Amino acid sequence: MDMISLAESIASCTLCDLSQSRTRAVPGEGPTEAEIFLVGEAPGRDEDATGRPFVGRAGKLLDRALDDAGIKRSQAFITSVVKCRPPKNRRPNKREMQTCLPYLRQQIQLVNPKVICLMGNVASSALLGKQGITALRGQVFEGRYLVTYHPAAVLRNPNRWEEFVSDLKIAKDFRPGKPDKLG
Ligand code: URA
Repeated sequence: MDMISLAESIASCTLCDLSQSRTRAVPGEGPTEAEIFLVGEAPGRDEDATGRPFVGRAGKLLDRALDDAGIKRSQAFITSVVKCRPPKNRRPNKREMQTCLPYLRQQIQLVNPKVICLMGNVASSALLGKQGITALRGQVFEGRYLVTYHPAAVLRNPNRWEEFVSDLKIAKDFRPGKPDKLG
């Protein structure tokens, strides 16, 4: 399947109940050749309204952090684990994550990025089975999965800003084949 057909499948998906309450699904956006792939949690209100990822407050913070790290947003692929907004922005549950995960896996396969930034515990647990961002952040696992904060967590706790930008710089400078920090 190509990226356009995949985005269409996501936009019309009815595999879980989130499809009942969403306005628009948010497949994600970015070049299929992107070297940097960013994964959030799930769309919020602004994303649900526009169908675009990270366009609300957390998205604005992400834009600034990418800029500080020297990454052009337009050159990264940006998406979330779950493609539809959970009611009241609650955390997506296990079933919703499991149902939606094949879309993310197909996107990763199509883009085949050098580095995949898992932003927050939902992304880190979905793709690595690991939680505990403060201990995991700034480290690369399984060759290309870099764990960092979710931008909304940086909004809530601005003293994480510098670590967040420094993690994104790791992504920018990442070269495959570099040994993982944890070996
Ligand atoms: N938070 C996310 O995890 N994803 C979005 O697209 C927006 C906010």
